[in-house]
Amino acid sequence: MSNKVTIIAPSNIAFLKYWGAIDLDSVLPANVSFSMTLSRCVSRTTVEARRAEGTNAIQVVDASGELIDADPAFATRVEGHLAALSEALGISGSFRVATANTFPSSAGIASSASGFAALATAVAALAGRETSLEELSILARRSGSGSAARSVMGGYVEWPGKADDAAAPARQLKPPEHWELRDVIAVVSSEPKLVSSRDGHLLAPSSPYFVRRQELLPERLAKMRTAVLERDLERLGRAIETEAVELHLVAMSSSPPIFYWKPETMEVLHCVWGLRDEEVGAWATMDAGPNVHVICEPHDEERVVAALGELRGVERLIRDRVGPGPRRSDEHLF
Ligand code: PMV
Repeated sequence: MSNKVTIIAPSNIAFLKYWGAIDLDSVLPANVSFSMTLSRCVSRTTVEARRAEGTNAIQVVDASGELIDADPAFATRVEGHLAALSEALGISGSFRVATANTFPSSAGIASSASGFAALATAVAALAGRETSLEELSILARRSGSGSAARSVMGGYVEWPGKADDAAAPARQLKPPEHWELRDVIAVVSSEPKLVSSRDGHLLAPSSPYFVRRQELLPERLAKMRTAVLERDLERLGRAIETEAVELHLVAMSSSPPIFYWKPETMEVLHCVWGLRDEEVGAWATMDAGPNVHVICEPHDEERVVAALGELRGVERLIRDRVGPGPRRSDEHLF
């Protein structure tokens, strides 16, 4: 068996958002979440297992395509996940890890979801034992990134929260072929966000709207499920826009408040609402960042791309779509 594995794992966009935990260290979410796995926003991660104990080497690919040492904060997070994975999978030794994203990191496009799903899948493959997707989901979230629990599966994915079983793995509601939705991501800022989602989860319960939000979520999830099962974009879109605004309402009313939006975020939202006035089925959602994911069907994609492309505040567009889960690749990063 090879001692080097490369995995390409997808990011995902949350339609119903994990925001707040009952136990942040074990990543037990306060609420259920529901996402669409993406296809082009991916992390490629190469992991090499070394027999000898010793320090791990953690690298990232920089903007010019060179492998450089990861910054200490990121390296520490990866080390923590490697330790948890080694313990869970019964591996000893040390690792060399290198990772590259096809999209801006830490800007609300779930780079931790794809990165840590890739890491967990790679280490499980190196351990050489059959690992189910459910096991991978549980392993991936031990990184501290809850959304990674959903990125090990393709298509439309639910991850239970406190009301069901917060320790349960994610599960696929429908595969990608069920409904070919597009996600046109309007990148208004590629800068890493100032407040991490971990801090956001910690602060969430300080919002006076946090508890009320929990009460509203079961009905919203039911609507989203039905909308996906029936491929009803208007129904899904209304629910995801309400949900996105509410996540940011909780963030903005936390103590201290967190403002992820930028003025350009509003510019994109107005454009999306204007498109709907022209009968284009486009619906917006934002994770913990200023960038806007515009969900539409293939027949409306060109109109969405043309309209967003004209906005002054949009740095660039990423044309993504629903996609499959992680896959192995022979193109190693080292
Ligand atoms: O997975 P984390 O801990 O980075 O938190 C994800 C937070 C959101 O992206 C805002 C919501 C979600 O469910 O992905």
